[in-house]
Amino acid sequence: MIVQTHQITPFDDQKPGTSGLRKRVRHFQQPHYLQSFVQAMFDSLEGLAGQTLVIGGDGRYWNCEAIQTILAMAAANGVGRVLVGQGGILSTPAASALIRHHQAFGGIILSASHNPGGPDGDFGIKYNASNGGPAPEKLTNAIFARACELTEYRIMSDMQPVDLNLLGQFQLGAMSVEIIDPVSHYVELMARLFDFDAIRDMLLGGFRMQFDAMHAVTGPYAKAIIEGVLGAPEGTVINAVPLEDFGGGHPDPNLTYAKELTALQFSPDALDFGAASDGDGDRNMILGNNFFVTPSDSLAVILDNIHLAPGYAKGAVGAARSMPTSAAMDRVAQFKGLPAYETPTGWKFFGNLLDADRITLCGEESFGTGSNHVREKDGLWAVLFWLNILAARRQSVQEVLEDHWSRYGRTYYSRHDYEEVDSKSANRLMEGLRMRLPVLAGQKIAGQVIDLADEFGYTDPIDNSRTDKQGVRILFKDGSRIVFRLSGTGSQGATLRVYLERYEPDPERHGLDAQEALADLIRIADQMAEIRQGLGRETPTVIT
Ligand code: G6P
Ligand code: ZN
Repeated sequence: MIVQTHQITPFDDQKPGTSGLRKRVRHFQQPHYLQSFVQAMFDSLEGLAGQTLVIGGDGRYWNCEAIQTILAMAAANGVGRVLVGQGGILSTPAASALIRHHQAFGGIILSASHNPGGPDGDFGIKYNASNGGPAPEKLTNAIFARACELTEYRIMSDMQPVDLNLLGQFQLGAMSVEIIDPVSHYVELMARLFDFDAIRDMLLGGFRMQFDAMHAVTGPYAKAIIEGVLGAPEGTVINAVPLEDFGGGHPDPNLTYAKELTALQFSPDALDFGAASDGDGDRNMILGNNFFVTPSDSLAVILDNIHLAPGYAKGAVGAARSMPTSAAMDRVAQFKGLPAYETPTGWKFFGNLLDADRITLCGEESFGTGSNHVREKDGLWAVLFWLNILAARRQSVQEVLEDHWSRYGRTYYSRHDYEEVDSKSANRLMEGLRMRLPVLAGQKIAGQVIDLADEFGYTDPIDNSRTDKQGVRILFKDGSRIVFRLSGTGSQGATLRVYLERYEPDPERHGLDAQEALADLIRIADQMAEIRQGLGRETPTVIT
């Protein structure tokens, strides 16, 4: 092995965001750009020499090229062994599972999640730690600091391109490379958690469903499990082949972007069940026949029914949700006498609670649900959980929800996004709200009395770390709530998110359209934050 050292001028823009470093493909393709980040990462990982790393990505454009570079650099930096998903493929939850299973030092996942791909799309790289979860902030800050001063990187210069499609083991210098099946371990894990026999019987009994893989990474996983092991007819998984540009689509599972599935499920031909996942397989959307399950309700229903899945037969030890996620989960936790945690937005905030065994289940309004089986949210896992619940209860999605609401009350919920607005205006709007917080409590606005108005902050109960400025909350006397927050994941300008929620205990009033049920709050939100004047926008760009 010949190791070459390249001299470079440091890059000052390699600060990882919520889920790693995400930039346009062309930005990543600048000479030495990826190499700089990878070297900064290796330099920040104390004790990496001789250790095992798991490597794979969501199959987007430049995935395999990046893996070749990472392999050559890993060999030159003394990594002992790498496990690479065949074809360069690993979904984010599958990578998390493999890191844990092999007790690896960590993993490198190539993905920009639900952002579009292709030569003009986005690329991303993130590091997951030995617990299988996203790198903690301490580490991502260290990587950024290292990148800012990095003047050279090491790479194996005599490496022939590796055939990522060929299963098996070989040497790159002193480093062992194993190309592994990206799917099989994940399938075994799911088979341990869920009642596959019951789901298989339900499918054989005529239950009809569709899973939209959106030409992203879950295709092979969903095909293997839903059509393979569970025996659903071929064609149940649509858009099943991962494509470098996701077929030109935006691989985000919501009513706007999962077009084909949504059109079917809101038509007279709708099937019993519809579901979709995102680019790297960690998000999920659940649909019934002409019925949408909000992610907040999905979390509450799974918690309520958790014992129905064999892997969770003992029930949950606790549950957590991100602050803007509705309180539907809290009502189930309270009924069951379980601790419920409220964390800032971002999956990494669940990590400590999961590692300390304080919670079994967690979820976010942003189409993320997961449990202690891995340290990432898991799209296909959520879909299988729903199938397990439906098979055990022998009810439709709508019946399960209506029963849930009749017992716990319904939490009407919606999120209004104002995307790509001017950053200054968005910050001014938030600052205006912040300034008025001290005087808001007790005020009456459009017939509603404000109970509490504050800005959410979080002290991690395990390591006592503090995270502030996580969204402005307005809580009303009747349990309704408005939250204002700026997105942490946008790439252009700013995105204002307005989260609206109203609790309705009366079963006679559970059949309303969410936007109608929330109309008063929507008006109050606009009035309080002066959204239309402040942002110059009449309506939100996306409503979920
Ligand atoms: C990513 C993170 C999630 C987060 C979501 C929305 O998917 O993994 O944990 O909830 O982004 O974040 P945003 O800051 O855009 O609301
Ligand atoms: Zn994702």
